[in-house]
Amino acid sequence: MDEIKKALVEADPFASWWPFLLAGIVFVIGTVRTYMGGQPCPNGNAVPGRVIIVTGAAGGIGREVCRELARRQAGCLILACRSTEQGDALREQLRRDAPDCVCEVRTIDLRSFDSVRRFVRQVQTQHPVVDALVNCAGVIFQPGGRTADGYEQHLQCNHLAHFLLTELLRPQLARSAHGGRIVHVSAHGYTAAKIPDRDDPLNLRQAGQSGRDAFAHSKLAIVLGGRALAGRLAADGSRTTVNCCTPGLVRGTGHLRHSPIMRALFAKVLTFPWMWLFMKSPAQGAHTIVRLVTDPELGRSNGDFFNDCERVEVSELARDDELADRVYRASLQAVGLAAEPDETVRTVREKNE
Ligand SMILES: NC(=O)c1ccc[n+]([C@@H]2O[C@H](COP(=O)([O-])OP(=O)(O)OC[C@H]3O[C@@H](n4cnc5c(N)ncnc54)[C@H](OP(=O)(O)O)[C@@H]3O)[C@@H](O)[C@H]2O)c1
Repeated sequence: MDEIKKALVEADPFASWWPFLLAGIVFVIGTVRTYMGGQPCPNGNAVPGRVIIVTGAAGGIGREVCRELARRQAGCLILACRSTEQGDALREQLRRDAPDCVCEVRTIDLRSFDSVRRFVRQVQTQHPVVDALVNCAGVIFQPGGRTADGYEQHLQCNHLAHFLLTELLRPQLARSAHGGRIVHVSAHGYTAAKIPDRDDPLNLRQAGQSGRDAFAHSKLAIVLGGRALAGRLAADGSRTTVNCCTPGLVRGTGHLRHSPIMRALFAKVLTFPWMWLFMKSPAQGAHTIVRLVTDPELGRSNGDFFNDCERVEVSELARDDELADRVYRASLQAVGLAAEPDETVRTVREKNE
């Protein structure tokens, strides 16, 4: 013991460069991680008594959104999940974390419009008022061909099903005393999307799109559809608002579960350090969404796009109001809310029969 004490007393840290080098490395890693983690939600506003629906609630980011909203005293969280087991597990966790928050687990499968309609009917019977809808569920590299309704998987799961859900819940959102809030979760990848034919803004006639292209297009459709809806809500004098956001690049979620590269163990091992360094945690990925739901300062924000909790400019294509209107009208057609289906949608339905 004495020897150790003596060695510590005599130790001279300035005799070597190693301590400086180590401190420098720790500082750089810490700075990179803090920077890449993005700006946290700048406030801790509570939302007592509010009824909030979150799709993809049991997913990596959705789960963190629910945990934070429960912590901020949400009155009732409706956990829209594909599987009841996952939803029940989350409800148990939320019950422990925030016993006063009522959590309802409701199943929804975004690959089926019937399932979305069933979900909405259940919500409507219990909740005449909905304060916020967070459309967080999403897929990428999804295998499995067309959905039961005959659409490309990414288009339906990411955009069309959420579009239908939002349209059907508009009356409930309009009754919110706080101004209903719709939050669409898009992705920065929308900037890579293409719409080669403006007469076919949902790319229904584009055969053989790759998973990556279909994902990008679906996330652009979310932004354009949201922009058109924002204009309509404002024109109607509604207090409901709709905004889009990207959570950023988030590690540790199920998002890349179908990625052909990330399924390989060696790719997971190789990318782990980079993901740890450069990507957000699911809790950090939830911040922008939480701000959009909770911040009173954003009560009038409508048709905007947020990244790292701040409003940002969207790409030129996503600013195209005429294209946004086309996406909106085509989506109404595709989900069966338009009075008369047009030719493209009729073709999809005939192929599906
Ligand atoms: N992680 C990222 O880096 C990143 C980047 C940009 C954007 N995003 C977006 O952020 C959102 C959340 O992603 P995440 O990272 O949290 O991924 P995740 O862990 O895979 O969560 C996605 C959620 O969506 C649900 N979902 C998928 N298909 C569904 C369907 N047909 N019906 C109902 N629910 C369905 C999943 O449920 P199951 O577990 O039952 O499949 C899961 O709960 C997504 O919209 C994603 O596109 C993520």
